[in-house]
Amino acid sequence: MDEDSLLIKILELVGSSSPLNSSLLASKLSLTHNAVIGHINSLKSRGDLIEVTPVPTQSWELTDEGEYITKNGSYEAAVHQYIKQNGSTPLPEVMSKVPNAKIGFSKAMANGWVKKEKDNSVILVVDEINDEVKANLDLIKAKKYDNVSVEKKNEFKKRKLLKEVSLTTFDVSKGKGFSLNLEKPETELTAEMIEDGSWKTKQFKNYNFDALGVPPTRGHLHPLLKVRDEFRKIFLEMGFSEMNTRNYIESSFWNFDALFQPQQHPARDAHDTFFLTNPKETSEKNFPEKYLNDVKKVHSEGNYGSQGYKYNWSIDEAKKNLLRTHTTANSARHLFELAKQEKFVPVKYFSIDKVFRNETLDATHLAEFHQIEGLMADYDLTLGDLIGVLYDFFSKLGITQLQFKPAYNPYTEPSMEIFCHHPGLNKWIEVGNSGMFRPEMLLPMGLPPKVNVIAWGLSLERPAMIKYKFNNIRDLVGPKVQLSSIYENPICQLDK
Ligand code: PHE
Repeated sequence: MDEDSLLIKILELVGSSSPLNSSLLASKLSLTHNAVIGHINSLKSRGDLIEVTPVPTQSWELTDEGEYITKNGSYEAAVHQYIKQNGSTPLPEVMSKVPNAKIGFSKAMANGWVKKEKDNSVILVVDEINDEVKANLDLIKAKKYDNVSVEKKNEFKKRKLLKEVSLTTFDVSKGKGFSLNLEKPETELTAEMIEDGSWKTKQFKNYNFDALGVPPTRGHLHPLLKVRDEFRKIFLEMGFSEMNTRNYIESSFWNFDALFQPQQHPARDAHDTFFLTNPKETSEKNFPEKYLNDVKKVHSEGNYGSQGYKYNWSIDEAKKNLLRTHTTANSARHLFELAKQEKFVPVKYFSIDKVFRNETLDATHLAEFHQIEGLMADYDLTLGDLIGVLYDFFSKLGITQLQFKPAYNPYTEPSMEIFCHHPGLNKWIEVGNSGMFRPEMLLPMGLPPKVNVIAWGLSLERPAMIKYKFNNIRDLVGPKVQLSSIYENPICQLDK
């Protein structure tokens, strides 16, 4: 029967006795209840043909054991049958030969079908029995629940032959637009229908106010922004304040010289750094003069007990504009501002922003990326303070195992690479770089001699790639990024 003839059949049945319950429909049509509900729903979608009211119903289902009994008879009947065929039988033989004899024997005894002699043999009491258990379970199987008494049903439930299930059935009755005609209702009223008057006789589909709307278009945060937000939260929780990092273009002075990075240092080469051609030089014509001279002196002659690098420091080199290669350039600016204050106050600063390097691009390197940087300035800070604060910081990311490896930066001494144990990869991976800023960097700024600055930096992309399971950074940033992945990526929640 095709779908439409089946629907018409249902309409006919409802037409001849309305309301009609869906479970009755199922048995009349020899269909499963679920299938009937499907057809009722498609009738419902065709206008006002039918009206449907849900009816919570209790129903019964045979367990596997119950099914077994409808096929093979009850256990007690099996015991009776065996004795009937074999005559007086020793009880142990009954137990071993008849399936489920343990229950079967005691029930057969209780029913007065068999009895046990003094010599432990079993004999019949009655010749003919009525296997009521099977008969009743057969009725249940035929869904004639009402023909089985409540006591019996409860007894079978206890014997685990039967279970109670609750289910919603539906009473189907004739709707306002009931007919045996399945013409598809119109979904729209057209100008033509109004003109030729056909609207008067047409069926119209009801509005479906339960339909889900089209999701409105909206903005989506890029995974990097979500991860950045989590790192910001960690810093803010730890009492750090955010530095202003809005200048991507920086002079070589702040990016390198102020950080005691000599002018011949290979990083200051066009191979590693993007220099600007226009404007080639910084417009900060007037670097703070005293500071400039102190920086020049510490590079070329040495100062504050340092030998310096002993070369001719050139202002022209310092003026060259570049795209900042690290946010530490910006930290230097902030420390200089701090030193200008009349009275030094300890600070905790952080920043998360973009930096640029003339890198060979590959699956994990881009020419622009983000750095997360934290620093603390206070009297008498030690390497122990740095290690302590790093443990604090990383524990907020759910990372509790750290290792440090001596490293070199022109502006920090000592310097340490930071490694953390990645339980998923089960290996140590490098996560950042850190150190204590050198006196050659801090003293020219005018910070009090006993003030130390501890600092660390890491990339934002790396934790974001790990968090969002990107193997290639170009799936995260750049023209190849799938917008759908941006739309669908979950919010970022770092394990804490
Ligand atoms: N500036 C360093 C880098 O680019 C990171 C760093 C910051 C190292 C602060 C030490 C102290 O890798």
